[in-house]
Amino acid sequence: MTRENDPLAALWMPFTANRAYKATPRQLVAAKDMHYTADDGRQVLDGTAGLWAVNAGHCRPTIVEAIQKTATELDFAPAFQLGHPASFELASRVAAIMPKGLDRIFFTNSGSESVDTALKIALAYQRSRCEGTRTRFIGRERGYNGVGFGGISVGGIVNNRRQFGTLLNGVDHLPHTHSLQHNGFTKGRPQWGGHLADALESIIALHGPETIAAVIVEPMAGSTGVLVPPVGYLERLREITSKHGIVLIFDEVITAFGRVGGATASETLGVIPDMITMAKGLTNAAVPMGAVAVSRHIHDGVVEGAADGIELFHGYTYSGHPLAAAAGIAALDLYEAEGIFEHAASLHGYWEEAVHSLKGKRHVIDVRNMGIVAGIELEPRPGAPTKRAMELFHKCFDNGLLVRATGDIIALSPPLILQKAHIDEMVGRISDLLETID
Ligand SMILES: Cc1ncc(COP(=O)(O)O)c(C=O)c1O
Repeated sequence: MTRENDPLAALWMPFTANRAYKATPRQLVAAKDMHYTADDGRQVLDGTAGLWAVNAGHCRPTIVEAIQKTATELDFAPAFQLGHPASFELASRVAAIMPKGLDRIFFTNSGSESVDTALKIALAYQRSRCEGTRTRFIGRERGYNGVGFGGISVGGIVNNRRQFGTLLNGVDHLPHTHSLQHNGFTKGRPQWGGHLADALESIIALHGPETIAAVIVEPMAGSTGVLVPPVGYLERLREITSKHGIVLIFDEVITAFGRVGGATASETLGVIPDMITMAKGLTNAAVPMGAVAVSRHIHDGVVEGAADGIELFHGYTYSGHPLAAAAGIAALDLYEAEGIFEHAASLHGYWEEAVHSLKGKRHVIDVRNMGIVAGIELEPRPGAPTKRAMELFHKCFDNGLLVRATGDIIALSPPLILQKAHIDEMVGRISDLLETID
């Protein structure tokens, strides 16, 4: 086949080794509940909820029907200076399950857009209270906050930054909280590491609090390999940011909607930020959508403090898109009707024991867990980091299990409708396949 008529040539795939993928393509053609169907007809157990997203399982009929119905009734409505009922309804529904006080909702179309939106709202808020010198952001090493210029600037992944120039000015980073030495094989939240939040005081002292608009962290860092917050760490960030008039943003694109317990990690952990970014589980990933939950004082500062007219010069053509809003309402209905967050929480103990049974297996140097998430860290192959985890990812897929490889870490985050038998199958298959790779 020449390059011109290669059916895979035109698509430039995101975050993919395009050449390697196209040499041995693996495709998904259907999905139902806990499983994907591969293009050769095999059933593949979804150990990752797609991409940390399909919390209620795949192709749930009520979500499908809501999208279908809306597509025939209102395909699109402009979001600027006009509205449609479902976007208001979804905003109220989301506000109702956010931590108290975070009840103003701005819609976006992705996690990346949610992060950049939250950063912009933080700047607008600081200006609205005559603190316009506060323009700096503090992110964290090993943070993943999406791929907008704001997100990669505050994020802490060098590969996501080095091709793209100088990024946002005035960004600094907290140290990450991961330590194999202190926290290896910890079940749940580590006791060691809370003190790392004190680095924020040093960063603030270095730049001056009057220059800092916001701090953004994921309560649990997912994409860089499941870094669970140490006991006391987030609490300390909250204390320090409050003391210095700095907005605290939790990036909950992964952790919201039942992944670690309640509707948000903030609620589960009892630490309430000023803004929460979300996406993924908001619509059960059936239609792209993100959102930022904003505390009332920030919203009111920007909106009530503005002159007549548009208060925030920001928004997207597809903010609150009718199909996404319909999917979001149906997803929230389903989470509630089936008690999906509670069901998942009832399995936390079983999940923890199961994933930690991989301790001592070939290549495994750490296991971490929180909610229905696990990170299984493999010893890097000498001279070839990431290759071992990638090989395991391929072997798992070829043997009917979808996992996620990030660096040398295998991340698991299955749909929250899982049963004990699914957990046994995932852990058993990984355990067996670890024996087959060098
Ligand atoms: C914490 C976090 N923030 C932001 C994003 C970006 O979301 P999206 O890929 O929808 O832009 C992700 C994606 O995984 C994420 O995990």
